[in-house]
Amino acid sequence: MTVGGWLREGSPRVGYCEDDMNRILQDYPLTERTILLKSRSIRLTTIEKPDWFLEQLSREDSEGRLYLPYWTYLWEASIGLARHIEKLGETLAGQCVLEIGCGFGLTGIVACQNGAEVVFTDAEQEALLFTRHNARQNGVGNRAVFVQMDWEFPCFDKPFSHILASDVIYEEHHWQPIMRLLQGLLAPDGIALFSEPNRTNALGFFDLICDNGFTYRKSVCRVEFDEKTATVCIYAVARVE
Ligand SMILES: C[S@@+](CC[C@H](N)C(=O)[O-])C[C@H]1O[C@@H](n2cnc3c(N)ncnc32)[C@H](O)[C@@H]1O
Repeated sequence: MTVGGWLREGSPRVGYCEDDMNRILQDYPLTERTILLKSRSIRLTTIEKPDWFLEQLSREDSEGRLYLPYWTYLWEASIGLARHIEKLGETLAGQCVLEIGCGFGLTGIVACQNGAEVVFTDAEQEALLFTRHNARQNGVGNRAVFVQMDWEFPCFDKPFSHILASDVIYEEHHWQPIMRLLQGLLAPDGIALFSEPNRTNALGFFDLICDNGFTYRKSVCRVEFDEKTATVCIYAVARVE
């Protein structure tokens, strides 16, 4: 994949390393899940009993706030966005797509299967190791790169035609950095696809980006997940012309 050249110097790129995955296999009890889409199913290796890990891996961030490692869950918003991307079909073929906060990588994997090349990013190296493993087991490892990136510090020099962001706007202090990332990394005619589980505060983020040169279209879908049905909102964000 050519995107390596877009990386700012010094950015850590998670390459394939058998030892790291062996460590994951030892450190985490794993479970295999199959996510059913209309035209295909995606096999994901995820963590069994993520609640326990949430507690074990929680810590204070640099501002003294409680930081919870939410990458240990697969979120319903990612299933809603995966289905939306599936419907886009060939639109993504040949495009270079950025996914932020990728977790287990579901949405970017579907984009790869639709012909995109995807740069998966997350602040957590472990999440990227799972994502890489999941990309390989769904046959798209060759269309993907994995970059450890905090959205406070974007590490690319060129903009992307598409940005995928499933369930990343849950905390208000993330809104400004994510908005700045959009300003810096979304191509002039690009589209960013956000999904979130219909939280009451989400509109605050979309008000913020509308005040800063973006517009959006919202759609709503229902997702069956872990024997529940959830509402997921999808927002297609573009720059105001
Ligand atoms: C709620 S999870 C969503 C994961 C996945 N997109 C999904 O929908 O299943 C939020 C994700 O954002 C990542 N994350 C949290 N803070 C971040 C930051 N400052 N920069 C980059 N990623 C971050 C977490 O590691 C986690 O993978």
